[in-house]
This record gives sequence, C-alpha cells and structure tokens, in this order.
Amino acid sequence: MSAAASSRYTGIAIALHWAMAASLAFMIWLGWNMDENEARYQLHKSIGITILFLALARLAWRFANPPPPLPEGMPALEKTASHVVHIAFYALMIGIPLGGWFMVSVSPFQISTVLYGVLSWPHLPFTEGLIGKDLYEIVAFVHGKGAWAIIALLALHVAGAIKHEFGPEEGVFKRMIPGLFGKANPPALPARGVLFAFGGSLALFGVIAATALIGAGTASSAAPPASAGGPSAAIASNWIVDYEASEIAFAGLHDGNAFKGEFETWTADVAFDPGALDAARVRVLVDMRSAKTGKKLYDDSLRAREWFSTADHPEAIVELSGFTRSANGYQASATLTLKGKPVSVPLRFTLEIDGVEAKLDGSAVFSRKALDIGQASDASASWVADEVTVTVSGRANRKP
Ligand code: HEM
Ligand code: HEM
Repeated sequence: MSAAASSRYTGIAIALHWAMAASLAFMIWLGWNMDENEARYQLHKSIGITILFLALARLAWRFANPPPPLPEGMPALEKTASHVVHIAFYALMIGIPLGGWFMVSVSPFQISTVLYGVLSWPHLPFTEGLIGKDLYEIVAFVHGKGAWAIIALLALHVAGAIKHEFGPEEGVFKRMIPGLFGKANPPALPARGVLFAFGGSLALFGVIAATALIGAGTASSAAPPASAGGPSAAIASNWIVDYEASEIAFAGLHDGNAFKGEFETWTADVAFDPGALDAARVRVLVDMRSAKTGKKLYDDSLRAREWFSTADHPEAIVELSGFTRSANGYQASATLTLKGKPVSVPLRFTLEIDGVEAKLDGSAVFSRKALDIGQASDASASWVADEVTVTVSGRANRKP
C-alpha cells in the first residue's frame, strides 16, 4: 500500500509558502548588498515589515487550517525533525523582522521608515529610553546571524522535502505544490478563516500605521503659537505680507545630491522703513511641520526628534534685527530659535519698494551643527551637508 500524502496544503498556505520563501531569499541578498544606499535600506525595511505581516497572517491561517497529516509511514523522529524545523522557521519569520524593527527603533541614527515610499511606519513603542549605539550593534549582529539560521534550516528543510518526496513515504513535496500539475497531486484541503487570518493581521498593522498618523496629527492640533504674547509680540507691522506670492525655501546636499524644500505655513510681522533702519524689526513664525521636500522620507525625517523634533517644537521663530545697508542691498542679523536655542547668522537681501509694494529677496546660510539638527545620525555631515541655505522671497504691501 502506498504511504503517499493524502492531501495538499490549502492554496493560500501554498501561495504564502512560496511568496515568503522568495521574499526571504531576496531579503537576505538585499541585507548583504545595501551598500549604504538609503533607497535599499528603505526597501529592505518595507519588504521586512511586509514579511512580518505575512508571517502573522500565515500563522493565524495555520491555526484555522491545520496542515494535512504527514504520511503514516514517515518515521516518528523525522516527523519531529520536520516540525522542529517548521517551528524554527516561523520563529525566524517573525523574530528577524521584529528584531529589525527594534533595531531601527533603538538606533542612534533614528532614521524614519516609509514603507514603499508612501506609508509612514512608526518606531516600536516604548523604545525611546533604549536608544543607543551598544544595543543597536548587538541587535544588528543578531539580526545578521538570523539570516544564517534561515540558510542552515533551509538546507535541512530542502533535504527533508527531497527525502520525503522520493523516499518510501513519498509525496510530501507535492503537498506544497499548487494543483497545476495534473491529477497526480493530492487534493487541496478546504480553506477557512480568511477574515480571521488576514483581517486580524491587517487590523493590527492598520492600528500601528495609524499611531504614526495620529502622532503627527495631535502634534499639529496641539501646537500653540510659539511666541503669542511674548516680548516681541509688540511689533508694529507696517507691511502686509502677500503669502501667496512669498516663499521661504531651504536647500542642501544629501548623499551628493541637491535637495530643496519649502515651508508651506508661516506668518511674518514686518516693521520696516528704509529711513529708520534702527527701528526695523521682523519676526517670522514658521510651522516646522509644514516643511515639504517632495519626498516623503525626507519630510518624515525632518519631523523626527533628532532633526526638527516637531512634536516638541512645532514652530520656529526667526527674528531680524540690526539692519544695515550694504553695497548691493541690506544685511540683517537673523536669529533662528528652532529647538529652544537661538542661533544668529547674517541675512543678506535686496529690497525694492515701488510705491506701496515691496519685493524682498534674500538668503542666509545655517549650520546643522549650530542648530543641533541631525547630529545623532550624521554629525560629521557625511550624508547631509552641514550647510543649509535658506532663501526668502517676500512680497508685501504697505499698510494703508
Ligand atoms: C525577514 C525579514 C528580514 C531579513 C531576512 C533580514 C535580513 C538582513 C540581513 C541578512 C542583513 C545584513 C546583516 C549583515 O550585514 O550582517 C540585514 C541588515 C539590516 N536589516 Fe534586515 N532583514 C529583515 C527584516 C528587517 C526589518 C523589518 C528591518 C527594519 C524595519 C530591517 C532592518 C535592517 C537594517 C537597518 C540592517 C542594517 C544593519 C546594520 O547596520 O548593519 N531588516 N537584514
Ligand atoms: C526560506 C525558505 C523557506 C521557508 C522559510 C520555508 C518554510 C516552511 C514552513 C514554515 C513550512 C511548514 C508550513 C506549515 O506547516 O505551516 C514549510 C513546509 C514545506 N516546505 Fe518550505 N520553506 C522554505 C523553502 C522551501 C523550499 C526551497 C522547498 C522545496 C524544496 C520547500 C518545501 C516545503 C514542503 C514540501 C513543505 C511541506 C512539508 C510538510 O508539510 O511537512 N520549502 N516550509
């Protein structure tokens, strides 16, 4: 009598098995070939989180759809070995990506994760107090070794699959092959619990993704106007800024490539008379969460604690004072208070006043080091240049 396997895994189990086997192989290759390339790191994290999601769904699927029994003739020891390998695989499929997520959460670099360039993914909760180089390095070491554990298990797994396909208790390999190859395949088990397995995992991941969005959302609604009622609130504006026609932009270099962005939301109080420069005062409130670069990863990174830290410091204040005339325009001292610490740099600008209309174009160069932005991840400016140029193009009308 043949001891062949009686039935196949469900179609979904088979699809998940092969999709995950391929993704894991690709991920190991990618992990070893990231070459300090930010896009590859982001892809690695995106696929890794997807694998975590699929592994949880797959485990839930397995609870709802127990695997077909192994052939009766298979020796007990080999059955146990096969189960141990499968359990170890599941542990790695969940443990490695979870470890990767933990690693980036405690990393001193605090680099944001944006899944597939579109979905902001939070760091693991309750890891803020653990951020540090030592822990990061330990977790990265274990994470890398996890790949070798997969490879070692795979050797056992494939050897087992071959032995139990062609050995006396034949047909085990066919259990994991879609029913595309004719009648020789045993029938698939009926499937149940799609909603439980995928709905449950999707709901869990939805909640996690939502915390990232809610985190950003509460910060924006809870933002008090930074300097309301402060000592400098008393600027007697004599100009009305035309925000539609004005712009505050920034530009720098990342990994040798120029990037630029803009602050979409800001307000300015301007008291300026070319005949009384001593009395001239300008105060600009910038909503730091409104920084847009056209690239979600940059936008998310800028909001992170290590950069603008917008959850704690949603607004920055720029105050201009000490106006003087220079050869081809004006100069002022621009004092930027970004994370509670004021930093002053010269701002050079040209100004044309034509009747009631004024047109200003200026620029100032800030140092990330002086402003304490991105200093944990890149103090030596090997990724993002230390100098960031801020350009202002302002249009205003004199108050009647
Ligand atoms: C099953 C999924 C995953 C596999 C198989 C995997 C595999 C690997 C491998 C083989 C490396 C190279 C290690 C080395 O050079 O020694 C690596 C590095 C890395 N992985 Fe993963 N990974 C997975 C998921 C994740 C996830 C979900 C994240 C983060 C959310 C992540 C973050 C990283 C990072 C940041 C590194 C670079 C570590 C370093 O600084 O050396 N990985 N991964
Ligand atoms: C990294 C790659 C792989 C991983 C992580 C993996 C993981 C697994 C896991 C966890 C199971 C048990 C499924 C369950 O009972 O829920 C399984 C079953 C199976 N895998 Fe793989 N597998 C991989 C690659 C392969 C390859 C390359 C082959 C083909 C030679 C293969 C053939 C099989 C077969 C035939 C079964 C059914 C065995 C049985 O029911 O006892 N797998 N695999």
